[in-house]
Amino acid sequence: MPKIKYIDANHKATSIEVAIGLTVMHGAVVNMVQGILAECGGALTCATCHCYVDEKWLGKTGLAEGKEKLKLSKVKNTKANSRLSCQLKVTADLDGLIVHLPKSQVWSH
Ligand code: FES
Repeated sequence: MPKIKYIDANHKATSIEVAIGLTVMHGAVVNMVQGILAECGGALTCATCHCYVDEKWLGKTGLAEGKEKLKLSKVKNTKANSRLSCQLKVTADLDGLIVHLPKSQVWSH
């Protein structure tokens, strides 16, 4: 199974094997990784699964687009590499993916 590394705002890293087809959000929630709330369970309505994709992985994950990008526009602390982790489906290509977690999941309004 692909291994995903979650690094929190205090630089604590947690590596978890996540099955292909699940999402980066799912791997975090099931394994109780702090920092991903995922209040809507992946329905793309809450944006509390915000993460920053490590720059060297952006070529594989791509940037946020469409509804995801729109949702992220309402979130504080976004950066060019911001993604909603419920929209990051785990594939074999993402083995070793590193995502950084924001200090908190904060809406701008
Ligand atoms: Fe709600 Fe990702 S879990 S938008």
